[in-house]
Amino acid sequence: DKGAYPYYMLKEIDEQAVVARTLAGHYFNDEGEIVGIGCAIGDTIKQADRLYIIAAGTSYHAGLVGKRYFENWANIPTEVHIASEFAYDQPLLSEHPFFIFLSQSGETADSREVLDNIKRQGFPTLTIANVMNSTLTREADFALPVLAGPEIAVASTKAYTAQIIVQAILAYSLGEVELDLKQELAKVAVEIQAITDEKATFQAIAESALKDQHSAFYIGRGLDAAVALEAALKLKEISYIQTEGFAAGELKHGTISLIEEGTPVFALLTQAKTAGLLRGEVAQVAARGANTITISSKSLARPDDAYVLPEVDELLMPLLAVIPAQLIAYYATLARGLDVDRPRNLAKSVTVQ
Ligand code: F6R
Repeated sequence: DKGAYPYYMLKEIDEQAVVARTLAGHYFNDEGEIVGIGCAIGDTIKQADRLYIIAAGTSYHAGLVGKRYFENWANIPTEVHIASEFAYDQPLLSEHPFFIFLSQSGETADSREVLDNIKRQGFPTLTIANVMNSTLTREADFALPVLAGPEIAVASTKAYTAQIIVQAILAYSLGEVELDLKQELAKVAVEIQAITDEKATFQAIAESALKDQHSAFYIGRGLDAAVALEAALKLKEISYIQTEGFAAGELKHGTISLIEEGTPVFALLTQAKTAGLLRGEVAQVAARGANTITISSKSLARPDDAYVLPEVDELLMPLLAVIPAQLIAYYATLARGLDVDRPRNLAKSVTVQ
């Protein structure tokens, strides 16, 4: 039931703060120790020399963020693969691979195909899914819940942030990390709430930047490039504005030729190491007439930025940076008079290959 909300998507965007709290409550005890992950999962992953994350669409984008936690916090090399590609062109595997399937529905046929293949090869598997009694959770060796609650809107929002959080918790449980993740997730929840409370700001941005546009771009570097992919998917799938998300350094290798007077270019700027380079790229597209809309984090912000995000641990910034993009996609779609929850040609659960 969407209650007072006009669309499920808006309700599900708002639920993200609660989901972050729910996950912290489920996976940590009062002392801040991990309790929600069985020893068998950790023991099996610790024997692996490489993780392979398999997913599609938005879940694939969540995997691109999760990779960073497994590499930075758990020190395990991690690859992220599109299920439909991996299924028919399996790359050369490491000696002791461990497979993680990420899925909202747990029914995605492309991911199921890979799981079948991998099981036949005898490698250990874990599914991280929102629907717990699903094919992918039942058929993998291990399963961890995403606990986002039912997601009805075709455009995935809360499942994305929740999948990122579960991956962060799992990676954290495998390594020795300075951060107090439970406390940091409490902060994430507070800040998600603060961002979703500013809907009018994102409605204004969407209406002024996107209402009459045919194309748009999202750029970023590092984790912001991963979020740019998801931000672009959100915008294009419901508003039908052709949107590309990509690593900002690639602009000069081709895409910059698409910039015209007024082309909206959204820049996500939350990663300190590459902030200077990204500022340069924003200036380059602005010089060619782009309408640049920069969403930055507090310590990297400049006065002209369209929106300044509150700050949490830099590796967790995707959880905040994606929220404006979700809301901008929502309001751009609303402004164009389209059905936000049910975009044409798409199904919520893709059970065919
Ligand atoms: C986009 C979206 C899709 C799904 C994809 C995978 O908003 O919802 O891209 O993420 O079809 O679905 P799941 O996560 O159910 O495996």
